[in-house]
Amino acid sequence: MHPMRSIAVLGGGGFLGSHFVRGLLQQTNLEVEVVDTCFTKLESAPLPRAARLTRACVTQQGLIERVVEEHETIVSMTAICTPANYNKEPLAVIDASYTDLVPLVQRCSEKKRYLIHLSTCEVYGKAESEALNETSSPLLLGPIPAERWSYACAKQLLERVIWAHMTHHGLEATIIRPFNVIGPQMDYLPGFDGEGTPRVLANFMHALLCGEALPLVDGGAQRRAFLYVDDFTEALLGLLRCPEARGEIINLGNPENDISIAELAAQMIAAYSKHQGPKASTPELVSADSFYGAGYDDVKRRVPDIHKASALLQWRPSTSLEAMLPAIIDDYVSRYAGKARGAAT
Ligand code: UGA
Repeated sequence: MHPMRSIAVLGGGGFLGSHFVRGLLQQTNLEVEVVDTCFTKLESAPLPRAARLTRACVTQQGLIERVVEEHETIVSMTAICTPANYNKEPLAVIDASYTDLVPLVQRCSEKKRYLIHLSTCEVYGKAESEALNETSSPLLLGPIPAERWSYACAKQLLERVIWAHMTHHGLEATIIRPFNVIGPQMDYLPGFDGEGTPRVLANFMHALLCGEALPLVDGGAQRRAFLYVDDFTEALLGLLRCPEARGEIINLGNPENDISIAELAAQMIAAYSKHQGPKASTPELVSADSFYGAGYDDVKRRVPDIHKASALLQWRPSTSLEAMLPAIIDDYVSRYAGKARGAAT
């Protein structure tokens, strides 16, 4: 293995990407190229040092070939990862997570580049064991009309392609499965800097800032284990210093932060109370059909087994929900409260 000098982050302008790129620039001396179609999140604060920002889609003619030629390590983070889109535009979701990325895997395999691919905890589908394990848990997707699973299926198939290249063609790669990472600048806020329904943290933030009800889909008894984005970034940076992680599939999540969506809503309402305007938000029960439309499906609980990440990366997530929610909410308030007040008048 040669010492790493340069790295390309495909999708590095997104939520996870922008936090990771900032960490890369702060904590390494690697040459960094970021490829994305939008850099608003990255450019929202000065970068610690210069990075090459390439505004392009991974499907642009010749882009993958050029990037793989120029960098020793490629981090692949592009996807449409909001569940509200899985049953609304499943073909775009499948292309973004599978079709568009097969050429990247093939090219990294041919050119002997190190590929760090961000897959997803969604590949476990409806499996609900106490702790989902990378190599022993089954991946249980719902039936075809439940289009919710289009994303998971596309992500799983790309994992299988990567695995086949590693096993049979000498590709060096690591597959990461993030579990419900949350933090500042997640997704978008509808009506402010995007349209549609973002993931739960951003959607609840939108409701709080606008004094609207927090929608609890099918009652909010379903559970998720939330990982703070800084803990996630620390693990991903640790991966770059860990040759033993090559060839592995690794869960990154925080089993300690396993709570129901109704409890998350209650904790966010409480943490937001100091910013509260005249209209306080309350939770509101909504049906999945009315909220997401036909084809949505869900998993009741999703807790990661993180023994492998802990052993390989000497990593343990340390941020509790009680510690992270006030910081996340303060950040959203500082970015959006003025705009929310303007929209209300
Ligand atoms: C999503 C994505 O599918 C994946 O991109 C990703 O791997 C995963 O998040 C993640 O963040 O790691 P999911 O956990 O279902 O999966 O994401 P959310 O949209 O944040 O929903 C979490 C739960 O909250 C779901 O049960 C959903 O029905 C519920 N929800 C969501 C609400 O009750 N209210 C809302 O306003 C939004």
